[in-house]
Amino acid sequence: MSKVLVTGGCGYIGSHTIISLIESGYEPISIDNLSNSYEESLERVFQITGKKVKNHRIDLCDAPSLHTVFDQYDDIQGIIHFAALKAVGESVEKPLLYFRNNLNSLLNVMDQANRKGIDHVIFSSSCTVYGQATDLPVTEETEMKEAESPYGRTKQLSEYILKDLSEIWGINALSLRYFNPAGAHPSGLLGEAPRVAALNLVPVITETAAGKRDTCVVFGDDYDTRDGSCIRDYIHVMDLADAHTKALTYLLQNKHSSNYEVFNLGIGQGVTVLESIQAFERVTGQKLKYEIGPRRPGDVVAIYSNYDKAKKHLGWMPRFGIDDIMKSAWQWELNRDF
Ligand code: NAD
Ligand code: WQD
Repeated sequence: MSKVLVTGGCGYIGSHTIISLIESGYEPISIDNLSNSYEESLERVFQITGKKVKNHRIDLCDAPSLHTVFDQYDDIQGIIHFAALKAVGESVEKPLLYFRNNLNSLLNVMDQANRKGIDHVIFSSSCTVYGQATDLPVTEETEMKEAESPYGRTKQLSEYILKDLSEIWGINALSLRYFNPAGAHPSGLLGEAPRVAALNLVPVITETAAGKRDTCVVFGDDYDTRDGSCIRDYIHVMDLADAHTKALTYLLQNKHSSNYEVFNLGIGQGVTVLESIQAFERVTGQKLKYEIGPRRPGDVVAIYSNYDKAKKHLGWMPRFGIDDIMKSAWQWELNRDF
């Protein structure tokens, strides 16, 4: 079994990916300082897969501790680097925190990969690297515009750093640019469980319906879109998890054509905020309390992906749409107990 080091393995996308990795025969090991997660997520992984996954609770910015963890293993085949701080608004308030955490983590992980001869690295990037994209759908060739936040800038900078290091050191690296991840594991045992309140649309919808929030504010209905609200490409977290497993296999089977490659991971369908709310109401039978509010500064009007490259090279296809996302997110909202 190939050992895979998963940073941020207790977090939302990391924990769901760990399930997919186990189901494909990989042996994941997590490093996560629990700054935005709980180790309970790995207990849920155990309930779902029957496999125990070890978490090393260390900060990736702590280089000596990271060195010690890497020295505990001699047979790691690849690294999936999820760990990062991801709250866009907070990154504007605390830019240094974001630059320090996200960039130093990446540098330290790459330093260890190089030292230990680990040749395969997958990095969590984001559609935020495209900034205010105007040509839709965006392909991997679409230019990066100015980042809208220090968070977005850390993803752009990380991609450049990864490209340079992988080319110089001969490491094979992929940046996976996620669009809007949402939804939960179909068992209802695992979903998004952050320490810091999630401000993304889908958790705001489910928390409002569950009575944890008073209302869901739609940030603007006067955009130039079919119903006036913003358009996004929501991707089910299990589709995203599956894409990581396929991306790792792609690297390990030497199917890549250069040291550094980039893939969009979305489902290629733009859904408006109001359509998302309608989908939630339709599949759950719940009436959502929502109101139209002002535009949110920094919001892109519309963005969705062209994912042909992932389909062609990784053999990946999304299986779920907005209805499945809403159904699973609602089930998780009702079950969530950590
Ligand atoms: P998450 O917060 O649930 O998971 C990130 C994990 O990393 C957390 O468990 C946190 O405790 C850990 N972590 C953060 N800094 C660390 C450090 N210095 N040392 C050790 N552990 C640390 O977030 P997520 O939604 O699972 O996101 C995973 C990755 O995907 C992130 O890089 C994020 O930027 C990226 N991404 C997320 C989204 C999204 O909307 N969720 C979209 C695009 C990209
Ligand atoms: C989606 C749509 C909002 C909340 C963020 C990051 C991006 C990437 C994915 C990490 C927008 C609207 C939202 C609410 C609303 N993450 N909305 N009311 O901003 O597209 O992307 O997550 O890399 O970098 O910026 O996601 O879920 O916040 O918003 O009307 O209470 O829902 O305006 O149109 P976003 P989101």
